Amino acid sequence: MMNEKANESGQNVNNNFENKERDTFGSRLGIIAAAAGSAIGLGNIWKFPYITGVNGGAAFIIIYLLCIAVIGLPVMLAEFIIGRRSQKNAVGAFKELAPGTPWFLVGIMGAASAFMILAYYGVVAGWTLEYIVKAISGAFSGMGPQEIENTFAGFISNPWRPIIWQVIFMAITALIVISGIKDGIEKYSKILMPMLLGIILILCARSLTLPGGLRGVEFLFNPDFSEVTAQGVLIALGHAFFSLSLGMGTMLTYGSYIKKRESLGKIATQVTISDTLIALLAGLAIFPAVFAFNIEPDSGPGLVFVTLPNVFNKMPGGSIFAALFFLLLAIAALTSAMSILEVVVSYTVEELKMSRRTATVLVAAIITLIGIPSSLAMGPWAGFKIGNLNFFDFLDWTTASILMPLGGLLITAFIGWHLGKKRVQEELSAEGTIKVNYIGLFMFVCKFIAPIAIAAVFLYGILK
Ligand code: TRP
Repeated sequence: MMNEKANESGQNVNNNFENKERDTFGSRLGIIAAAAGSAIGLGNIWKFPYITGVNGGAAFIIIYLLCIAVIGLPVMLAEFIIGRRSQKNAVGAFKELAPGTPWFLVGIMGAASAFMILAYYGVVAGWTLEYIVKAISGAFSGMGPQEIENTFAGFISNPWRPIIWQVIFMAITALIVISGIKDGIEKYSKILMPMLLGIILILCARSLTLPGGLRGVEFLFNPDFSEVTAQGVLIALGHAFFSLSLGMGTMLTYGSYIKKRESLGKIATQVTISDTLIALLAGLAIFPAVFAFNIEPDSGPGLVFVTLPNVFNKMPGGSIFAALFFLLLAIAALTSAMSILEVVVSYTVEELKMSRRTATVLVAAIITLIGIPSSLAMGPWAGFKIGNLNFFDFLDWTTASILMPLGGLLITAFIGWHLGKKRVQEELSAEGTIKVNYIGLFMFVCKFIAPIAIAAVFLYGILK
């Protein structure tokens, strides 16, 4: 082990010379696994189904798909371009491409968002670990709906149990990130993402073959536009950002590890499609079961932790499917958490010149500490409010409604108004080796459409 490490760093020193000390993804498949791993997360499997349920189903999904195509995809491409062009972390990238200007503050904002997002994301991810154990031990069988609800409320408000799981989750995340891009993030994404796809397909097959399950499919795909509200549109756009991991430098950082010969347009499209397909599959795994057992689809954030155990209870072999489901959720959360941590770690390593190991341990420890009060906000510290939000909701709201949209707006504006068509063309065409025919459209979206649409969500988030 020690030898291996010594060897590895020895090799790095050699590579450093030509490679400007930077790790890269090893293969195209690895890039897609890692970037899709970042995008596919609690957002797809926990949040997307419940906001779809609350916002009326199919019509909401259509609007969401439009937001993904018109805004999400271009913003992802914009982040990839800035990252790969600069070969730097989220802060260094702006310093490199716009020296002597305040643009680097966009990167600082991204790093700050990463701390805040992961602090509460790690808490929810911790819940999924508790639920894997609960499901395997058959804890839900024989429980009625009220009891299941009480179990969830009791667990998340417990002063120490969720924190222990959060610490375990953060430790696993940090262990993978310490090993770097090729031997850490990419390697594990290539194992975990196919597992995730396998599990979700098994769950879909089970759910769709339940008697009465087809009503769930109808709920997902038969739109009723009278259910759409202005608020729903803005929620859809906000979720497109969250689900694709945009607006805070995650895709920028991953973009900086993509080799120059790869087509960024192709990768961004494939990642966007994967993320969207998994969200739809999550819907197909959840809603048919929800309808088959006559459960209300609009039960909100508790949908997967409170509603689904009831569904599993009524299925033959339910605890196996429950364990698989929560394992799926944990895997999805892990590959996303890795990408959020990497934003801060790459910044700390490259700008503050810390070793990767020290940086990862330090940053993960600080984020875990910020996570503790956000976990306690579900219980003993529920009374501690910032404005009218508890600490958990404060982290979620500040990032999702302010920092991420603002980041996305500035990132697209940076491409449209600062970087300019010539440099964008060079990146998109992989230095002239690939033909791109969408550049005019892309620049137009970056200059006008994306900033204006994002400004609408942003203002809504603040004025709400
Ligand atoms: N996209 C992930 C999800 O759907 C969460 C996530 C990872 C994220 N990195 C991010 C969200 C960066 C915002 C910004 O769960």
